Amino acid sequence: MDNKELYLIAKEAIKNAYAPFSKFGVGAALLTKDGKVFTGVNVENSSYGGTICAERTACVKAISEGYREFEKMAIVSSKGEAFPCGICRQFLYEFADDLLVITGKNEDELVTYKLYELLPEGFKL
Ligand code: THU
Repeated sequence: MDNKELYLIAKEAIKNAYAPFSKFGVGAALLTKDGKVFTGVNVENSSYGGTICAERTACVKAISEGYREFEKMAIVSSKGEAFPCGICRQFLYEFADDLLVITGKNEDELVTYKLYELLPEGFKL
């Protein structure tokens, strides 16, 4: 699957974001090495710290379905591009330090980074 296609899947997922507090909906689409896509959205909570980001939602969905090998992830927000927060960078690093992270203002202006570029020297036990 190409980057643009994955970006558009992430964008479509935003409709399911639960972001009544920030009004900043985020969608993520995580492609596994064997070609399966898991989407995720941010799910906020009245107790703000309970919020989970779209990226971790997608990753947790994949892990809990038995998938642990990931190729790339597209992330889109209701305002266009969205780079993963620090917690998500570390969370994803656990499983795929060479994950290709895709975002951008729109599907024709994509930017990509490897996760190890966004999180140099990520922590691993
Ligand atoms: N958020 C994500 O879901 N992913 C990101 O990459 C950045 C932030 C969410 C968390 C919260 O619901 C809202 O965006 C504002 O921080």
